[in-house]
Amino acid sequence: ESTLGAAAAQSGRYFGTAIASGKLGDSTYTSIAGREFNMVTAENEMKIDATEPQRGQFNFSSADRVYNWAVQNGKRVRGHTLAWHSQQPGWMQSLSGSSLRQAMIDHINGVMAHYKGKIVQWDVVNEAFADGSSGARRDSNLQRSGNDWIEVAFRTARAADPSAKLCYNDYNVENWNWAKTQAMYSMVRDFKQRGVPIDCVGFQAHFNSGSPYDSNFRTTLQNFAALGVDVAVTELDIQGAPASTYANVTKDCLAVERCLGITVWGVRDSDSWRSEQTPLLFNNSGGKKAAYTAVLDALNGG
Ligand code: G3I
Repeated sequence: ESTLGAAAAQSGRYFGTAIASGKLGDSTYTSIAGREFNMVTAENEMKIDATEPQRGQFNFSSADRVYNWAVQNGKRVRGHTLAWHSQQPGWMQSLSGSSLRQAMIDHINGVMAHYKGKIVQWDVVNEAFADGSSGARRDSNLQRSGNDWIEVAFRTARAADPSAKLCYNDYNVENWNWAKTQAMYSMVRDFKQRGVPIDCVGFQAHFNSGSPYDSNFRTTLQNFAALGVDVAVTELDIQGAPASTYANVTKDCLAVERCLGITVWGVRDSDSWRSEQTPLLFNNSGGKKAAYTAVLDALNGG
């Protein structure tokens, strides 16, 4: 196959990208994205500040622009993200305790109702663990509302849209030896044991010199899958975009039956949140980089 999406589909997987609504008028951007990818994540448009700018007043205008572009171009959509310490609107940042808890529940219900039956995977909770060696939860207003906030979010999400796969999503959880990975593993194992509804784990995979790719990523994916959840690479970008590392990540997903697919976090280097690291598959002019060919070859079994 000659595109990433079609090549991934040979094994029942997808290959996606983050899409920014503000770039949908850029024909170089839309022609690459339309051609190569068959899954879309809204880079910012489905986040809390975008979808509920005032409490109880939902706004899906930007989110729907991304959603409609995706569906009109034959792509499926991952939802990102419902409960997160970051990109909260001002009104939510100032809440705490039981009123924040209720606002989180209302937010999940409001957004998931709008997209009911239309989103294949939702990142229900994003980035709840701390970096470093503690293995602790990240401090945030959500965490201070009670340690059960994550399971409440998942139970709320399951009731709101039973057709969506419900994912926990985080970064610096790719290396099996990292404390953050182990903490996330313990949480998922506990959720599965107690029947908390979780279907998938998203590994963002923002690799750079500070948190480099390690070949034990495949072990991590396998160990999570063995808990009875699907896994996905949700925000892949790699500093300098070395072709061999891109190929290895692709092969890691292909080696794990429950790996649903891979999403890269943007189209061209210039579209990246860290463009100075040139971490993506297309250069600023939209040309295919060596990493692109390496990923395509890996998806084609090479
Ligand atoms: O839209 C405003 C614009 O009006 C304003 O003039 C400009 C000035 O700062 O800001 C624009 O908003 C920015 C937005 O991206 C859109 O470009 C925000 O400041 C900026 O903070 C925001 O960054 C996003 C970041 O999440 C915020 O946390 C990145 O685009 C997005 O790629 C990044 O994505 C995250 C995932 O959601 C979660 N995992 C990590 C990943 C990378 O940080």
